[in-house]
Amino acid sequence: MMNYKLMNMKVFGDERGKLVSLESNKNIPFDIKRIYYIFDTLPDQVRGMHAHKNLEQIIIAMDGACQFVLDDGKNREEVWLNRPDVGLYIGKNIWREMRHFSYGCKLLVLASEYYDENEYIRDYKEFLNGIK
Ligand code: TYD
Repeated sequence: MMNYKLMNMKVFGDERGKLVSLESNKNIPFDIKRIYYIFDTLPDQVRGMHAHKNLEQIIIAMDGACQFVLDDGKNREEVWLNRPDVGLYIGKNIWREMRHFSYGCKLLVLASEYYDENEYIRDYKEFLNGIK
């Protein structure tokens, strides 16, 4: 089994609308050290194309949709994110590609570590060599 999973978040909904709460080490399985978001996306642009040696993330499509390709060096799987109440958990050493963004898709990302370019693996061959 690949080190990612789709997580259904508990929704507090009533006649006024809906709310989801995200809490470190409760429904988010790590300490949240960083939050970033992606917006103004375009359908013909691909993002990601990297893996992380030491980072866990949860990604939520707050608005719109996009497809994730997840690759552990043995298998490649495709997952659509298109709901604000579903989080995609991605663990360490998973190559990810994001594509087929809807116009103006908004991705919220919760990360277990501060930004560190040195812990990215941006070369696919290097990724494959690292997990052997
Ligand atoms: P990039 O890794 O290319 O984004 P994606 O994962 O969507 O492909 O990041 C885009 C730019 O933003 C790049 O110059 C690095 C910078 N960046 C930060 O400075 N801090 C961050 O937390 C992140 C995620 C990116």
